[in-house]
Amino acid sequence: MAYRVRVWDLPTRLFHWLLAVCVVALVVTGYTGGGAMEWHARLGYTVLTLLLFRLVWGFVGGHWSRFRSFLPSPAKVSAYLRGSAHPDHLVGHNPLGAGSVFAMLLALLVQVLTGMVSDDDAGFTGPLNRFVSSARSDQATWYHKAVGQWLIIALVLLHVAAVVYYLKRKRQNLVHTMVIGDKMLPAPAASSRDDLVTRAIALVLTGACAGLVAWLVSLGNLASAQ
Ligand code: HEM
Ligand code: HEM
Repeated sequence: MAYRVRVWDLPTRLFHWLLAVCVVALVVTGYTGGGAMEWHARLGYTVLTLLLFRLVWGFVGGHWSRFRSFLPSPAKVSAYLRGSAHPDHLVGHNPLGAGSVFAMLLALLVQVLTGMVSDDDAGFTGPLNRFVSSARSDQATWYHKAVGQWLIIALVLLHVAAVVYYLKRKRQNLVHTMVIGDKMLPAPAASSRDDLVTRAIALVLTGACAGLVAWLVSLGNLASAQ
């Protein structure tokens, strides 16, 4: 018998696919440069909003979206690799995948923050550039271009390769779960709450995160108006 379990609530799924589209568009606009930099910045602010939302959702979201349900540890990873993982560690992100999820979220956050103070020396600067010395801005721009973008590209390629590996070798369609939300499991497991109330909470939280990002960006504009 198989049990249907809601693993990814709708807010987590929307977060994921919006994030993926924005990150691809950020790489494209980053390389296009020039007039596309305005869009690069807007997409970056959207990613910051998504990341802030995900940070809060990691504490108040659906069961399997909460960080404590997939915090990786060496013991969990080694049990997973030996094939003796606790059944709870096979429902949401597995202990190995969890490490890559945290790495992607952190790398993206650092990329947005360095972008906020960077300068392309061709007329475009991040909104918070004026608050840092030019030496700091140069360091941030260097990280953004020479380290951050490659780290993110490598993590995303690894991520997609892992998803394909699970599909081809392990016959597990993780993408289907990230689209539909549900997984069929051999034993009953907790479901992530995903109803009108939790979706409304997610919407309000996203609005609050967007407001916070808009305020942060406006700090740069206010400073330049003075
Ligand atoms: C720039 C592109 C991408 C980024 C930045 C990205 C990032 C992420 C992040 C942060 C998570 C964790 C979700 C959460 O707990 O909130 C995740 C999960 C996931 N992503 Fe992506 N992703 C990208 C592209 C893709 C693509 C193209 C696919 C499909 C081929 C995909 C399939 C998945 C799946 C299936 C999961 C769930 C994995 C699991 O069951 O543990 N992602 N991704
Ligand atoms: C996750 C978010 C981001 C990603 C993935 C990203 C990615 C990139 C990429 C791939 C480039 C081209 C690098 C190159 O030419 O070698 C770039 C350049 C740049 N990005 Fe971002 N970026 C992000 C966020 C931001 C944000 C929020 C801002 C500022 C609002 C920003 C400001 C810049 C600037 C100023 C450059 C040009 C640097 C130069 O050519 O000297 N980025 N970014």
